[in-house]
Amino acid sequence: MPSATEDSNDTSNGTAYSSIPTSCPSCPTPLRYSGSLDHLRYFEITPIIGREYPDVKVTDILNAPNAEEQIRDLAVIISERGVVFFRDQNDLDMADQKKFCDLLGKLSGRPEENGLHVHPIYRDTGNLTLSDGTTDENIYVINSEAQKKIYKTMARRAPTEPRDLSREWHSDSTFENAPSDFSFLKMEETPPHGGDTLWCSGYEVYDRMSPAFRSYLETLTATCAQPVFKTAADAGGYEVMSPRGSPLNVGDEFAPSHPVVRTNRITGWKAIFAGVGLHVTKINDVYSYEDQMIREYVMRLITRNHDCIARMKWTKNAAAIWNNSCVWHAATPDTHLVNGNRTGVRASSIGEVPYLDPDSKSRREALDIPII
Ligand SMILES: [Fe+2]
Repeated sequence: MPSATEDSNDTSNGTAYSSIPTSCPSCPTPLRYSGSLDHLRYFEITPIIGREYPDVKVTDILNAPNAEEQIRDLAVIISERGVVFFRDQNDLDMADQKKFCDLLGKLSGRPEENGLHVHPIYRDTGNLTLSDGTTDENIYVINSEAQKKIYKTMARRAPTEPRDLSREWHSDSTFENAPSDFSFLKMEETPPHGGDTLWCSGYEVYDRMSPAFRSYLETLTATCAQPVFKTAADAGGYEVMSPRGSPLNVGDEFAPSHPVVRTNRITGWKAIFAGVGLHVTKINDVYSYEDQMIREYVMRLITRNHDCIARMKWTKNAAAIWNNSCVWHAATPDTHLVNGNRTGVRASSIGEVPYLDPDSKSRREALDIPII
């Protein structure tokens, strides 16, 4: 399987140099918002991250005469704000949800050959089904009741102490050579409370670091290994799906290296990307204690700076769309404490191979916002 980056892994003298892509040749220069969504009412979730359109139907954007312009503008807004919320998308069917997610990536400079992500173990008989009993290779199903029947090979031991929820933070499909850019989650059912999802700004976590530490992290890559798919496929006697939304996402290795700091192709801003998260296995080319120290530091910035976080209290048919290259997200596993099922469907577009343009700026630098 081709690697997302070509790592030299030369540790003979204790120093290693990793080659990080510096551009996405097929991506246009950063996009600018044209104003086509100015007529829509919205409010920001916090000064740093998130926006909600409380009375906008995604289908109105999809069916507008200037739909392409509006969708491209929404891609810019999502990429600037990190995540955008909608309410009451009761008229949005799954086909249109997939189409909209695909267009967000396509109209915002995603490599032409890419499409929606394909569930790696779509062939597993243990997969959750949609409410009508069918499955879709581009749709990841959330169902808190059915989730209790998980893949045998992923069965967890009964907990003996409170769970560390920091492990929930992740960016979608980081285990792929070309990970997801946009993810679009619609919640069909939700309990009266519980099951909130949180998003944290990778732009802002980068901005909270000293210039010296930022520069150091910009030299690093991380291995993002997710062996559970091959384990599940071997146990189930089937092949993992290939390709998965990109000609680069093939095979069953699921262990690419990605830059710790990447440039968002749409805004041109830098964000911490593969410095932490469920799919990040190790920081490459450093000693194990240093690996642990770096990842704990990034996690500490997430958990001790709650002004970098937007929180969604789900309502029936609410939706969230986010850009995985500049935010992490975390579900809250507390729905077992309340009656009611939590069901949803998620589609993801596959973006470019992550790169770091050395001339790109941080969000605060680009917007001329003081660091402190
Ligand atoms: Fe996710």
